[in-house]
Amino acid sequence: MSEQYTVHPSYKISGTINVQGDKSISHRSLILLSISEGTAKITGLLESEDCLATLKIFRMLGVKIEKDSNNSYTVYGKGIHGLTGTNNNLDCGNSGTTMRLLAGLMSAQKFPSNLVGDNSLNKRPMERISKPLTMMGANISLSENKTAPIKINSIEKIKSIDYKMPIDSAQIKSSIILASLYADRKTKITENIPTRDHTENMINFLNGNITTSNNEIIIDPMSKLISKDIDIPGDISSAMFIIVACLISKKSEILIENVGLNDLRTGGIEILKLMGAEITVLNIKKYGPEKVGDIKVKSSNLKGIEIPKKYVASAIDEFPIIFIAAANASGKTLLKNAEELRYKESDRLESMSKGLTSCKINNNLFNDGIEIVGGEIAGAVVDSFGDHRVAMSFAIAGISAKNPITILNTESVSTSFPDFYSLAKLIGINIARENI
Ligand code: S3P
Repeated sequence: MSEQYTVHPSYKISGTINVQGDKSISHRSLILLSISEGTAKITGLLESEDCLATLKIFRMLGVKIEKDSNNSYTVYGKGIHGLTGTNNNLDCGNSGTTMRLLAGLMSAQKFPSNLVGDNSLNKRPMERISKPLTMMGANISLSENKTAPIKINSIEKIKSIDYKMPIDSAQIKSSIILASLYADRKTKITENIPTRDHTENMINFLNGNITTSNNEIIIDPMSKLISKDIDIPGDISSAMFIIVACLISKKSEILIENVGLNDLRTGGIEILKLMGAEITVLNIKKYGPEKVGDIKVKSSNLKGIEIPKKYVASAIDEFPIIFIAAANASGKTLLKNAEELRYKESDRLESMSKGLTSCKINNNLFNDGIEIVGGEIAGAVVDSFGDHRVAMSFAIAGISAKNPITILNTESVSTSFPDFYSLAKLIGINIARENI
């Protein structure tokens, strides 16, 4: 059995809503509170398959994590050296963040571990983390294809390194940071372009010591992180689907409350603004170290643009839905320098190009990007290729299409945004879900 959505053109989108918790921050709250000292509460945890995979792994590693009420959990931290090993595989499911961050943390433990994933995750590149971790002295091995399963054996002590990042990736950076908490001396990581810094923010919030200046990150090895309650903001990457839904609908207006607005995550908003989107940010506040605010959106006439390179890293998860905005814009939109999109839950350049072509939107694919010519979106049947963000993007495309769009294989939406379907219905999207 598989699940599919059908979206019929919708006229008006409206409401004041909240989106579910930020996926990146949810993972990090579970990981870091598990190795902190003391007990703390997480409020607003994203209860998606990806984050629940992380939660289950830490329970297997001996951490007591209690569910208090919806989205609220208490984590009884075991301290930096308190995790206990298990003979069972650590199953990361579809979650690249779980696997890559855990590889760093597990490399520094005094017990062996084996990280496994689902079919999609088992195809994604892992040498990008095994290389720097091996330089740190980790005993880590991959399959022949340089993918998961990842086998990690215990070692005496992790060594500090001075590492220049060859790829702009917060997962690689965070994997090294987690290992370097256990290192003999300070570790230095240099980024080409800064990527999301939730790991650094949360470690400092929990009394760790990481300093960043001029793209250089210096991590102090830690003997102690101190537990503190963590509030998780709404996920900007989920909010983006609702934002674009509103922009491409007629006479629509929506308010999305309490969305995480970390400066290294808002590239998608900046790109939409350059395209002519009417988006206003209100009520800026802080949830611990993270910036949060409300996002007000109005229907807008979008125009095609050349997407500036400086926004690629901070909009990396938003491109599938930005491509739908581009299909609705007048003129051409060009994205380059985004080869990383080929290594996500699917090859997102390929999956989106195929779907856009089915919807009769002209596009040219490049190795590191795509050019999209805005036009009339035709009804079509498109495959999500098992990728949550591709599935949700074409659901939004259905709003302004001439005829209904059916999206196949939408189960993966529950890896990041389990409420997507009900929220879409609530704000006025004409969406139906079927199991076939
Ligand atoms: C993430 C980093 C990004 C992003 C992913 C979440 C994180 O991946 O695509 O959805 O939480 O660190 P990369 O580090 O591979 O760019």
